Amino acid sequence: MHQYRLQEVEAGGLVHYHYGLTPPGTAAAVESALAALPADAHVYSCGPTPFMETVGALAQRRIASQNVHFEYFQAAADLTSGGHAFELVAAKSGVTCMVPADKTIVQILYEHGVVIDVSCEQGVCGTCITRVLSGEPDHRDVYLSDDEKQAGDQLTTCCSRAKGVRLVLDV
Ligand code: FES
Repeated sequence: MHQYRLQEVEAGGLVHYHYGLTPPGTAAAVESALAALPADAHVYSCGPTPFMETVGALAQRRIASQNVHFEYFQAAADLTSGGHAFELVAAKSGVTCMVPADKTIVQILYEHGVVIDVSCEQGVCGTCITRVLSGEPDHRDVYLSDDEKQAGDQLTTCCSRAKGVRLVLDV
């Protein structure tokens, strides 16, 4: 099936198949593919965790982290558990509420009539990303890059939380 879908770009010599590679063989194939890319290219990777880790480790040597994208089959762990209660302000909606330790921002806002679009609800897809107006996010997702997390101006509301006692979102 995947071959069928790729047939159109395949004709342009853009698709290369690799079957039955050992881990070192996979790393060599990834390295070879990366070597052909300009430094400002975007890299998209989807697959088993060891493969994704290989791509990430090799890509970071030559591609900026915000240009390296991963799509996980599922989050590695329950990213929503743990943490403390904090005050949440949905600035545009005029809602101020508490997010207890056992609920997500999305769940609490929904209870207060504020609906945020979600898809994976595991910090994987980025659908629920919201701008942070103030407060420090406790990033739990695997979607944002390290640099984006460091900037602290957006977060995935399906799983991420606040490091402090208050978070103000642009919703
Ligand atoms: S819904 Fe997918 S990252 Fe939040």
